[in-house]
Amino acid sequence: MTFENVQIEVEDAVALVFVHRPEKLNALNRNTIGELHQAFRTLESDPQIRAIILRGSGPKAFVAGADIAEFANYGVEEGKELAARGQRDLFDLVENLRTPVIAAINGFALGGGLELAMACHFRVASENAKMGLPEVSLGVIPGYGGTQRLPMLVGRGRAMEMVLTGGMIGAEKALQCGLVNHVVPLEELDAFCRELGAKIAKNSPVAISYAIKAVNEGFSSRKPGFQMEIEAFGTCFGTDDFKEGTSAFLEKRPPEFPGF
Ligand code: COA
Repeated sequence: MTFENVQIEVEDAVALVFVHRPEKLNALNRNTIGELHQAFRTLESDPQIRAIILRGSGPKAFVAGADIAEFANYGVEEGKELAARGQRDLFDLVENLRTPVIAAINGFALGGGLELAMACHFRVASENAKMGLPEVSLGVIPGYGGTQRLPMLVGRGRAMEMVLTGGMIGAEKALQCGLVNHVVPLEELDAFCRELGAKIAKNSPVAISYAIKAVNEGFSSRKPGFQMEIEAFGTCFGTDDFKEGTSAFLEKRPPEFPGF
């Protein structure tokens, strides 16, 4: 498998998948989402691979979000399609993969980046990691499942605060609220996750795939929330707040939202 924005290293039964667009802090554009889809599908069908670790290339970012430059000119329908297709092709795919996926959060995990980490089966962060859902600062809402998966992990009140302030939290706070399971120094992150992967690899892959199904099924009543998120995400794309928020980001200035 050769990709432009994804790299894969396999060691024993564990695959390390890198989102590889370091010059854009690994921001998720369409091509990267498509390549990750292909990579996960291929790894899932390989019986030798018993655990997958997902991280970002470079020391600075896991993934700094969806690619703002790519969607800044989209309208309502394109916005809805972006969220629906992304959820289907990557976020839901990862969540329901039969092979466990551990997010190794090696730096910024913002917007779509945190949403991707939350779609993984569990998360480990490096001490320098910073996590948040800053979409409302761009005039939009999280569109890749963030409004649904964050409350499942940290509770409704904490999730509301993170979504409404758009602020970032550090690794220790993420550990306290259950967003990540472990915090380790950056230089130990890969080895720590590989060890977890090796532990998983000793267990029955069939049983593991059913365990994932069963845990996920317990949350399946949330499906209407994901659909509402897609609709609301798209609706934001037709607003002046969205135009101002995305233009301000690309022009590297603070936004001045016109509001209702
Ligand atoms: N989409 C597109 N490009 C992005 C991006 C994103 N989500 N996040 C970072 N980049 C790009 C920057 O535009 C910059 O590109 P340039 O060098 O061509 O100007 C490059 O990645 C490096 O980022 P920069 O902002 O210069 O790094 P920084 O260390 O000053 O700041 C962040 C780091 C993560 C705080 C900042 O990049 C940021 O706020 N990113 C957007 C986060 C966000 O809102 N994500 C949600 C999207 S829905």
